[in-house]
Amino acid sequence: MEGIRALLEECIGIGFFDPSDIDHRFSFVCAVEERVVGVVLATLRPYAAMRDFYRDKAALVHWGVDPEPDVAGHIREVAVLPEFRRASMATRLLARSEATLGDSGAAFFVANAWIRHDTLKSPGAHLLEGRGYQAMGDIPGFFQLVGAGADVVCPACQDSPCACGARAFVKDTRASGAERGVPESTDVQA
Ligand SMILES: CC(C)(COP(=O)(O)OP(=O)(O)OC[C@H]1O[C@@H](n2cnc3c(N)ncnc32)[C@H](O)[C@@H]1OP(=O)(O)O)[C@@H](O)C(=O)NCCC(=O)NCCS
Repeated sequence: MEGIRALLEECIGIGFFDPSDIDHRFSFVCAVEERVVGVVLATLRPYAAMRDFYRDKAALVHWGVDPEPDVAGHIREVAVLPEFRRASMATRLLARSEATLGDSGAAFFVANAWIRHDTLKSPGAHLLEGRGYQAMGDIPGFFQLVGAGADVVCPACQDSPCACGARAFVKDTRASGAERGVPESTDVQA
């Protein structure tokens, strides 16, 4: 647990980690010599709860799902220590988590990618697009919205409060999802 906290504090921000985010059924770590170097935290949620959250918070480009599933896989965090990046660790962690969520009935997945407010850079957006996720809309100031506490410092911009936003992504592995004609993601810089 402390290894996951340390990793997320370095990659996502101090004051952001919540142990209740960890659902052991769908969350995985990569460890090197007992040090946690990569993590995916995920859980299964009622689809309607996810839909209502994003309708409320995001300037959605598109959230048309027909038929609506009962459950959605919620990818809460994906993070890899800087020295272990670009070696497909996040890709493998995400694939593992999606597979276990799929075994529990999820064919629809939701994830957020941080978008640095000053540069619009977002490695997470590229990661998700590479795994077949499609952009649904942006949530301005998302980091501040969910981090809340005054002591939360964004590791990307180092500001507190942070103005970084998030882009909401979904992946619908059902046949109808592939036919929805979702718009391409734009303006995230590599
Ligand atoms: C995003 C993050 C998890 C990626 O971890 P990773 O192990 O390096 O990812 P992978 O090696 O599996 O990369 C898969 C693809 O993602 C994209 N990607 C990853 N890092 C990128 C970067 N810095 N810039 C552009 N694209 C990037 C690439 O398309 C990459 O494929 P490629 O290496 O074949 O080009 C890692 O950079 C991180 O922890 N960032 C801070 C926390 C964060 O932003 N989490 C994302 C929330 S969705």
